[in-house]
Amino acid sequence: MPNETANQTVRNIGPVILLGPPGAGKGTQSKKIVDRYGIPQISTGDLLREHVARGTELGLEAKAIMARGELVPDELMYGIVVHRLREADCLRGFVLDGFPRTAAQAGWLDAFLEKEVFDNSGNPETCPPPVVIQLLVDYNQLLLRITGRRSCPTCGRLYNIHSQSPAVDELCDLDGSKLVMRDDDRADVISERLAAYENQTRPVADYYRRQRRLVAINADRPVEEVTAQIFGVIERHYQERYPQDGHSEPLLGSVTPKPGSGKSKSLRPKRLNLE
Ligand code: AP5
Repeated sequence: MPNETANQTVRNIGPVILLGPPGAGKGTQSKKIVDRYGIPQISTGDLLREHVARGTELGLEAKAIMARGELVPDELMYGIVVHRLREADCLRGFVLDGFPRTAAQAGWLDAFLEKEVFDNSGNPETCPPPVVIQLLVDYNQLLLRITGRRSCPTCGRLYNIHSQSPAVDELCDLDGSKLVMRDDDRADVISERLAAYENQTRPVADYYRRQRRLVAINADRPVEEVTAQIFGVIERHYQERYPQDGHSEPLLGSVTPKPGSGKSKSLRPKRLNLE
């Protein structure tokens, strides 16, 4: 998405939660949201892979679990997520890609956001409650997307040998690096990951659906069409909460935490000096 819309979209978008099975396009669509709204992508899979690459204690523990296609225990996830959410670039909102992934994580996230981040006052200078978007994709399509996925180890750009191939076979269009396949994209691990989704992550969608907070979209469409649906959901969510806000005035960095929360220094109200 070109940056021409950036000035119109510099608002407090709040948290955007992308739910969906492996290969549904969460990473692909997160990057589109980042480009349009200027909020960071928080991919718990990427955070874990960074820990594995750095050989941290958490990385060593997570490595074997991820290689089997299982979920990393909730208690290990909370630490890395809370650390990331308290960083200053999350003030206007963030895209959660891969979290929450269990019903317990969803409950934990609600409690954290309630305590430290959003408020329901209808004031556009505060951080709105999360919008939860579920990406629905046919099972066979998921398999094609996962087995065909390639990524650039240098810039992170995603490709797919079936639908988004690079101009030159196996080389990144942007920096010429040799594209790689993820360790857990092997056939035997994929079935485990899809089973983990069915058993542990589908209840997360049920959790949000029961609260009438889930918006499901047809993600079995070309990337741009899925992006357009997602932007539509985010815009409607924002307008429903702040109908009075014509969003012509940039609100960069003006998130106000719930009164009395005061736990996180980085979430204190803060207006950036734009001059
Ligand atoms: P993670 O990295 O989160 O993997 P995932 O959820 O399995 O999701 P993927 O990255 O496989 O898919 P995606 O939906 O992002 O699709 P993408 O955009 O890449 O997690 C990895 C592991 O970490 C887990 O198994 C677990 O062990 C651990 N973990 C992570 N979070 C955790 C948590 N919260 N709790 C516990 N453990 C956790 O697209 C896929 C392919 O399709 C690409 O090639 C792309 O180019 C293509 N594509 C995308 N959209 C389209 C489209 N519309 N049409 C055609 N092709 C498309």
